[in-house]
Amino acid sequence: EKGGYKHFMLKEIHEQPRAIADTIRGRVLPDASKVVYKELGISFEDLALTQRIYLVACGTSYHACLIGKYMIENMAETPVEVDIASEFRYRNVPFEEGSLFIAITQSGETADTLAALRFAKKSRVKTLAICNVVGSTASREADGVFYTHSGPEIGVASTKAFTCQIVALYLLTLAMAKAKRIFTADLYSGFLRHLIMLPRMAEEALKLEDKIMELAKEVYRKQNFLYLGRGPLYPVALEGALKLKEISYIHAEGYPAGEMKHGPIALVEEGFPVVFIVSDDLYFDKTLSNMQEIKARDGFIITISDSKDEKLKKLSDRFIYVEGINTYLNTVLFTIPLQLLAYHVAVLRGCDVDQPRNLAKSVTVE
Ligand code: M6R
Repeated sequence: EKGGYKHFMLKEIHEQPRAIADTIRGRVLPDASKVVYKELGISFEDLALTQRIYLVACGTSYHACLIGKYMIENMAETPVEVDIASEFRYRNVPFEEGSLFIAITQSGETADTLAALRFAKKSRVKTLAICNVVGSTASREADGVFYTHSGPEIGVASTKAFTCQIVALYLLTLAMAKAKRIFTADLYSGFLRHLIMLPRMAEEALKLEDKIMELAKEVYRKQNFLYLGRGPLYPVALEGALKLKEISYIHAEGYPAGEMKHGPIALVEEGFPVVFIVSDDLYFDKTLSNMQEIKARDGFIITISDSKDEKLKKLSDRFIYVEGINTYLNTVLFTIPLQLLAYHVAVLRGCDVDQPRNLAKSVTVE
């Protein structure tokens, strides 16, 4: 049942190229000219008229929401609010005309996410669920449902469901940008062609496993980790930290790198591991200077990047190069080595990877 893998989590990490391909299948025309809107569970007109989006979820699915915000605001030019479901449900949000509420939930059964969805419905806002489990409560109650086709996720730590949620958000964003006539046809099909490359590139990222295993051997006895990233890579930092803490019980925090000086840097001392997730984007130089600050305090810098910049490599104690595609899809590719790192650290610590203590696969009580 584990397909030859030692744990479901490892199997599910390795299933990502296929899961992503299944989530894309049937939703993009083969010549990359168009997203098939009908499959999104919401009409073309509704997408064009959407003025504001609320993305709401818990845990890892909440991290997907944060990535969605960067995508939708930048590519579909529509303001997005992101909230944790347990907060949202009690916030009494005054919805405006033209709002679209999107719940993201692998199981479709998370109590707080369902309560937030019901609140939105009661407020007569159009609702959509991005959901993995067919026929789940969220999928039945939302006005529209966009299924991720990850296949069953058994490991308590979410892996393939997360990366497929990002793919779903990317498709939704492109459909919305098209509905709002934001992109030229060329730009649009360029973004779709990138998406079609994603399963193969995810396969490449999985080949980093041996390197990650070596790294895990070096760091698995550490007691604290800091994960830093900016822009769409900030939620990737949060997700990397959550994966590690869930299954290895090591204290790990994710932070936007720009916030480092406002507190977390106080933690850094000799050998303190800091994982930088960095891309050659508008934040690059700023993140380099954050790295210098860590270096000056003898922190142990682990870098995950699609850049081959020499300064970056020199500042890094360990450097993991990941071939990238574009700013948004790199969130998927950079997540893979972080999942593998969490997994191998947990195994070395003798933890029960698939059934971590105190956690349930779906949290059906408040
Ligand atoms: O089924 P859902 O996506 O609604 O679940 C949300 C969270 O409970 C879930 O992502 C949780 O944080 C996982 N343990 C993360 O690995």
